[in-house]
Amino acid sequence: MNLAQQIERAAQIIREGGVVAFPTETVYGLGANALDPNAIAQIFAIKERPYFDPLIVHICNLSWVERLTINFDKRVEALANRFWPGPLTIVLPKSDLVPDIVTSGLSTVGIRMPSNTIAQEVIRLSGVPIAAPSANKFGRISPTSAKHVAKQLEGVDLIVDGGDSIVGIESTVISLNRDGFIILREGAITAEELEELLPRSTMPNSAPLASPGLLKSHYSPDKPLYIAKSSSLQEINSLSSELNKKGRVAFISFSGITPAGFDKTLFLSHNGNLKEAASNLFRVLHELEEDDSIDAIIAEPVTGVGIAKAIMDKLNKASYRYKSDENKL
Ligand code: TXA
Ligand code: MG
Repeated sequence: MNLAQQIERAAQIIREGGVVAFPTETVYGLGANALDPNAIAQIFAIKERPYFDPLIVHICNLSWVERLTINFDKRVEALANRFWPGPLTIVLPKSDLVPDIVTSGLSTVGIRMPSNTIAQEVIRLSGVPIAAPSANKFGRISPTSAKHVAKQLEGVDLIVDGGDSIVGIESTVISLNRDGFIILREGAITAEELEELLPRSTMPNSAPLASPGLLKSHYSPDKPLYIAKSSSLQEINSLSSELNKKGRVAFISFSGITPAGFDKTLFLSHNGNLKEAASNLFRVLHELEEDDSIDAIIAEPVTGVGIAKAIMDKLNKASYRYKSDENKL
């Protein structure tokens, strides 16, 4: 099937209650009709995702926000005008149209309008909003290509192959309170960009886990990943000489450095470019996970402003289960 046929077929499958993986600008999503609880149940089954983790609903035009939510306010309109289509998810009070299974029983729903034109076409042709988590097994590395999806998931009716996801890390998830916005998950849109439009709320998060996006462990490769404390060669060498005793070690470079003593070096960037690093992050983790000649991974820390924080957040979560207890955050 050519791309146009894949898109056509994907929309048809969605309308008929099936499950489709499709590209977005952030990562690949695993989508089903957001208004059909039975279709949504298949997403949770395929991903082995716990039911406490709510899904993001993807739309292709603003009129859906008014149907899926209540208390639509001016701030939502302003955010949508500035950041949609694009990698921002806004959590809003939901209407009765949204089934509870989509929101894990929460009274709110996360909504986003993706900018990827293939995603937009699939949503438009299916005629319904599409609930779509990232198309990976729960807790594992997110997919930025059709191949990554095929590697992890079985039982998907169709995987639309739209090439590599450009942004490479997930959308920023925010909610709103009287004060302004709260970041529930760091992502491609930075706090600084949001603050140009709205104040950041200074009120503390009321619930300890206001969003599963705040889970400490996620994105884990199936082999140990450690983050060096700094880019100093001395620091990195002392980590690697420990690990080298046990097996073969790969290095993930952010600034372009290539320290000696590694069996393989992959680059998020060759010169500390953050956009490039974000778009390469999950691809590099997938490649090292697939490489049977590698036993452990050391990553250079990602520094800088803006999306540096989101990238480090992903790396920290990916390495979380490999941290010794005293190093857990
Ligand atoms: O970029 C993205 O957001 C990708 C693409 C496919 O759009 N999707 C994605 O979905 O990352 P997922 O399911 O992997 O992550 C969605 C996260 C949830 O884990 C949760 O943290 C947050 O979004 N979320 C969704 N609905 C929420 C709600 N009602 N309240 C709080 N957090 C919510
Ligand atoms: Mg995910």
